[in-house]
Amino acid sequence: MLNNESILNALQPVQDPELKKSLVTLNMIRNISIEDSKVKFTLVLTTPACPLKELIIQDCEKALKELPEVQTVEIEVTSETPTQKALPTQQSISEVKNIIAVSSGKGGVGKSTVAVNTAIALAQMGAKVGLLDADIYGPNAPTMLGVEDYQVTVQKRPEGDILEPIFSSGIKMVSMGFLINPGQPVVWRGPMLNGIIRQFLYQVNWGPLDYLIVDMPPGTGDVQLTLAQSVPLAGAVIVTTPQNVSLVDAYRGVKMFEQLKINILGIVENMSYFIPPDLPNHSYDIFGSGGGIKASEELQIPLLGLVPLEISLREGGDKGVPILISHPQSASARALKLIAQQIAGKISVAALA
Ligand SMILES: Nc1ncnc2c1ncn2[C@@H]1O[C@H](COP(=O)(O)OP(=O)(O)O)[C@@H](O)[C@H]1O
Ligand SMILES: [Mg+2]
Repeated sequence: MLNNESILNALQPVQDPELKKSLVTLNMIRNISIEDSKVKFTLVLTTPACPLKELIIQDCEKALKELPEVQTVEIEVTSETPTQKALPTQQSISEVKNIIAVSSGKGGVGKSTVAVNTAIALAQMGAKVGLLDADIYGPNAPTMLGVEDYQVTVQKRPEGDILEPIFSSGIKMVSMGFLINPGQPVVWRGPMLNGIIRQFLYQVNWGPLDYLIVDMPPGTGDVQLTLAQSVPLAGAVIVTTPQNVSLVDAYRGVKMFEQLKINILGIVENMSYFIPPDLPNHSYDIFGSGGGIKASEELQIPLLGLVPLEISLREGGDKGVPILISHPQSASARALKLIAQQIAGKISVAALA
């Protein structure tokens, strides 16, 4: 006879390949119902962007079909993103589950491109996503999202002013760009910066978010320090290009995050190779290849993926229509989607560790 217990027993050996624990133990199998030889249940993943969703579904089906009474298996897939734990000295943002810093040793390597597009990719997969553009020296996320003319509105509340984020391309966002005049040189001192970053974290009406992605200023400085000390960071993503100079900076960034005891989720090698628009099946190594792989091996940090150099990716950024929306099937969009899934998977691992 089929019953809940025999179903759970059959599913007990099936593991989440990333969390390396049984789906049953992780309470990922819920609402089991049995009608004759048909078994239905809900599979609750730890992220809507689960990179191994199909594999887990297959493993469940296979395990259940080993029961002679089972003919058909129907699985409804949903997700509940876990929340990162805060240290006693840190203050979480209410309803924001995971905060991710996208960082690089130097500017121009594609940090904003990666931050904006992975944020959109996660939202397209069903996550609730925010983007905090913390790059005071070059706040270009508004341009990339085509919202540079927007104004952030302020709500007066008894507990203080609250900024209303902008909603565009499926994500909520705030930017330094909305608070400073274009062309005006920015000279922030440490304490002022600290104040504004804290305002962007705690005095924005973020609402419920699975992921808040922070586009960091380049290098290692006050913003990084404030972020690390204020909020529980799910981890940092380091963006680099294959060139040596860029890699040296990436190493420095990795060391800083290690000192601040921030989990490094991995390295993204951007502008890895060039795909000419007229010859989409060709690729050329412009900056030399393998830099990201080498850095990942030497520093024992996962390589999250390689993003090719594509003209449509830059054009999308300039025109304010991100590539995930304008050319979702392009090589760079596909690479960025896979990177977003890798990030989501690693965050679940960190939250449940
Ligand atoms: N893979 C890529 N292919 C083509 N252009 C890119 C790519 N990555 C970034 N760019 C372009 O390079 C410039 C710098 O990228 P950006 O994301 O602003 O870097 P950062 O935030 O690190 O300063 C932008 O014009 C962007 O559109
Ligand atoms: Mg930038």
